[in-house]
Amino acid sequence: MSMLLTIDDLKQRARQRVPKMFFDYADSGALTESTYRANEEDFSKIKLRQRVLVDMTNRSLASTMIGEPVSMPVALAPTGSTGMQHADGEMLAAQAAEEFGVPFTLSTMSICSIEDVASVTKKPFWFQLYVMTDKDFVLNLIDRAKAAKCSALVLTLDLQILAQRHKDVRNGLTAPPKMTIPNIIDMAIRPGWCLGMFGTKRRTFRNIVGHAKDVKDLSSLSAWTNEQFDPKLSWKDVEWIKERWGGKLILKGILDKEDAVMAAKSGADAIIVSNHGGRQLDGAPSSISVLEEIADGVGDKIEIHMDGGIRSGQDVLRALCLGAKGVYIGRPFLYGLGAGGKAGVTTALEIIRKELDTTLALCGKRDIREAGKDMLYRPDRPL
Ligand code: FNR
Repeated sequence: MSMLLTIDDLKQRARQRVPKMFFDYADSGALTESTYRANEEDFSKIKLRQRVLVDMTNRSLASTMIGEPVSMPVALAPTGSTGMQHADGEMLAAQAAEEFGVPFTLSTMSICSIEDVASVTKKPFWFQLYVMTDKDFVLNLIDRAKAAKCSALVLTLDLQILAQRHKDVRNGLTAPPKMTIPNIIDMAIRPGWCLGMFGTKRRTFRNIVGHAKDVKDLSSLSAWTNEQFDPKLSWKDVEWIKERWGGKLILKGILDKEDAVMAAKSGADAIIVSNHGGRQLDGAPSSISVLEEIADGVGDKIEIHMDGGIRSGQDVLRALCLGAKGVYIGRPFLYGLGAGGKAGVTTALEIIRKELDTTLALCGKRDIREAGKDMLYRPDRPL
């Protein structure tokens, strides 16, 4: 891991180690992928102010997200099928996050279950909920997350219907994956990945299979999933979910100021300014380009988090300067997982921490909680 110095280094290593159909699943966006690209590209438009001759000793990256202490304000985003990047991926990523002191968010669509992750962690993690039309299943998921002592529910709002990712269709990525000759060869030439995968029982979507009444095994999962995302999801649903959950609630997938104002009124604890990593509305603006407007629009009525396109510590600082209290990384930790399992996730977090620390110092600040617009160089206000 020592020569893997950037998130892109981890990505290239993961590309070598993970079968193409699963690597592509992570490294893809909806339709033309224009929003996926914009998420990353727009960060580089934001310039930081270099300061000199200020005391740069005793720096601190520690902060809080929804009141929970974090060693740096960077959480792991919920990502479906994470256990396909590396066997037992969700459990390993959760452990790496716990040791690092940052939140881990488990997806509804994970391979390992809520209970699997709870069994290998000591501190509470966060659970991400998709609202399905089978409301008994949703209630059951909420109760399981409560029983596992999850400390926050992340409710995803931007997937009422599923947008197409062309790479997944071309690769035959379904549940279970199509065993075409290219896919079989691709797996066979990656013995490390295969051995890990066949050595674990956690190869199926364990939050769902055996829990949703119509999904007895993997063969019925694809059809069920395609029908289950609730196209009628509304603010009323947010209300009953909030009530049933009764704990900290984070609303994920807000990209519009008007929706952010509604979210603030809903009584949720935080919103995540997000376009699902460019995997839903192709053509939507990048998350970073709307962050400031949303943060200014809601003021201090609700805590603001963001995700989408963060690939460095510099990007984390840019987002904090524009109004986020914390950010999430999706693909950076998936690349780490694919590159080297738990150690790879730790490496991804370490890369970001080191970059964030240096960047903070060279901007003339010692405490990450001081991040603000005064640290940006914006003569013509780019972004
Ligand atoms: C996601 N994302 C996601 N979000 C969510 O709420 N539930 C989920 O199950 C998933 N699944 C998922 C799978 C994969 C492979 C990716 C890359 C992303 C979106 C995720 O939480 C987050 O919004 C983005 O990943 C953030 O963008 P970056 O950091 O990947 O650029």
